[in-house]
Amino acid sequence: MAKAISSFELTLKSRSRHQTLTSWLYGELRSAILDGRLAPETRLPASRDFARQYELSRGTVVSVLERLQDEGYVTSRVGFGTVVNRVESPRPARPATATPAYIRRIVATHKRPQPWIDGAFARGVRPFLIGVPATDEFPAQIWGRLAANRARRFRSWLKSGGDRRGYEPLRSAIADYLRTSRGVRCRAEQIVLVSGIQQGLDLLARLLLKKGDAIWMEDPGYFGARIAFENAGARMKPVPVDEEGLSVAAGIRMCPDANGAYVTPAHQFPLGVTMSLERRMALLGWAARAGAFVIEDDYDSEYRFEGPPVPALQSLDNHSSVVFLGSFSKTMFPSLRVGYVVLPPALVEPFVALRYRTDFRNSCFDQAVLCDFIAEGHLARHLRRMRTLYGERLEILIDGAKQHLGGVLEVSNVRAGLYTIGYLKNGMSSRQAEELAAAEGLEVFGADRCTLRRPDPKALLFGFGGFDEVAIRQGLIRLAKALGSRSSAH
Ligand SMILES: Cc1ncc(COP(=O)(O)O)c(C=O)c1O
Repeated sequence: MAKAISSFELTLKSRSRHQTLTSWLYGELRSAILDGRLAPETRLPASRDFARQYELSRGTVVSVLERLQDEGYVTSRVGFGTVVNRVESPRPARPATATPAYIRRIVATHKRPQPWIDGAFARGVRPFLIGVPATDEFPAQIWGRLAANRARRFRSWLKSGGDRRGYEPLRSAIADYLRTSRGVRCRAEQIVLVSGIQQGLDLLARLLLKKGDAIWMEDPGYFGARIAFENAGARMKPVPVDEEGLSVAAGIRMCPDANGAYVTPAHQFPLGVTMSLERRMALLGWAARAGAFVIEDDYDSEYRFEGPPVPALQSLDNHSSVVFLGSFSKTMFPSLRVGYVVLPPALVEPFVALRYRTDFRNSCFDQAVLCDFIAEGHLARHLRRMRTLYGERLEILIDGAKQHLGGVLEVSNVRAGLYTIGYLKNGMSSRQAEELAAAEGLEVFGADRCTLRRPDPKALLFGFGGFDEVAIRQGLIRLAKALGSRSSAH
């Protein structure tokens, strides 16, 4: 089947004084076909349109197309137009040129994302990849209806793109949600919409840190945050995490005058623990005394399967120390790329100014659709359903690990999030176990990849949200085989 009409104007070189119009047009079209600018099966515009486009007479265009047809470069059929044929180019498509020095320098020196960040996603979604919600359970029909509605009424969101913080009705809806469900003290004016927590971290790192500034990092901790702070040239201070969360006393011993701290208090990444009230108060106390900031990454707190919800650290803050980050990646789907930053009021303007210098703002269309999804109650319904589903999937994982991996792996008893951690009991390192599992087609994530200074926790991370009962059970049986569990025969 012929491709659609080539609707973009083909750039033709200007004609030299000695060339006739016909020989110039013939030469230009022929070389465009030979070097691939006009790809095989491209349908050329009708001769009348073509002539108008290039200010030629129709007779000139027709005679050139006839010649190209005679020589086999194009095929014209009545009622179907002129289509480019597949022809072998007698010369290389582009003359080989030496790579410019600046490209060679960048290729040799730029910091590649560590292979596990790209690699895992390139291999596709397979158990137990982390960060994958149950997208097949997402009410896509409702989303489609709301999106179609907004696309038709595009003026409804077009004008409201004027606010650099993002679509105001969505910011109001988020403020309501955060006040009610997370205890966050905020108004819509303090919220800036970003393309996920990662963009929020990048902007905050650039705003809050200068090259050489020190920041407390949870050890082990979230690699995405580490990348953002590294990009800003900050000095990472690895502060140990125990069952109560980040050890504030250790942070103070190590670096009392750090510029700030990054924490995941609701569900520490990757250990899964919740920061105790005592530690929260100690962290806020230090931040207030030191004049430091605290970045609270609240990436998946919507999912707690037992016990009461834990209010945000920000809800205890009386000194404007905390910047709160949240996201719809886990509650909706990750490729939506909508997240939000809740800033102390005085920091809104500097943050927005910095953001404006990078990419103006995010797409308001997605924000408007998401706003309708929340306002019509679909998000609350979806969350309730998903909480039950994920809770069940986690129980299947815990239960299956006991059955198939007893003595080899002990899965944490934390009931929260979309992933959990399992501690190796067979003396293997995280990396060894990860490699053996990968050979069995499994995507478990070695916890050593999250450490800064701390020794290997000898543990694996398991994403369970995106995998059904069969996939979880089969994955565990394969893992038992990979790790040589004696109970793998079950
Ligand atoms: C701790 C933590 N923070 C932030 C993110 C990134 O969130 P977003 O998709 O909103 O950029 C993730 C992703 O899984 C995460 O695990």
